[in-house]
Amino acid sequence: MTDNAKLLVEAARKAALNAYAPYSRFAVGAAVMLADGEIVSAANFENASYGLSLCAETVAMAMIGNAGKLDQVVAIGITGSMIGAKSDAPILPCGRCRQILNEAAQRGKRDLAIYCAGSEGDTTQTYSLSELLPHAFGPADLGL
Ligand code: THU
Repeated sequence: MTDNAKLLVEAARKAALNAYAPYSRFAVGAAVMLADGEIVSAANFENASYGLSLCAETVAMAMIGNAGKLDQVVAIGITGSMIGAKSDAPILPCGRCRQILNEAAQRGKRDLAIYCAGSEGDTTQTYSLSELLPHAFGPADLGL
């Protein structure tokens, strides 16, 4: 694992401890690295009206958007498992989160590194956003 991957997986695992996931019992953590090394992390946030639940990646990206730093995103670590379970099976971002990550990639004019891991262990899969979301719809399609 690269230093950044290690840092982000560790931060994502810590963030997952704050998951509010009483319905799925599946805790996800996301840790996003900005160009200056800042790490912004978040966990999934569910709702009794299930469809309103927010993924960890989405919460983290909304925090970054609100800080005006969308164009500074360089990488993200994502981890998850059933609450209390130990799993080394990597978690990959859902389709909606890939699209949300694409907004940052397009605004920052750079591909993003995505480090995926389970709640424990050294198994990490590394992807680029363009690999997970090829031919994306983005700001350029709307003239931005
Ligand atoms: N979840 C995430 O937080 N990120 C993903 O990329 C996939 C799914 C959450 C949503 C829900 O709270 C739980 O995992 C089970 O789907």
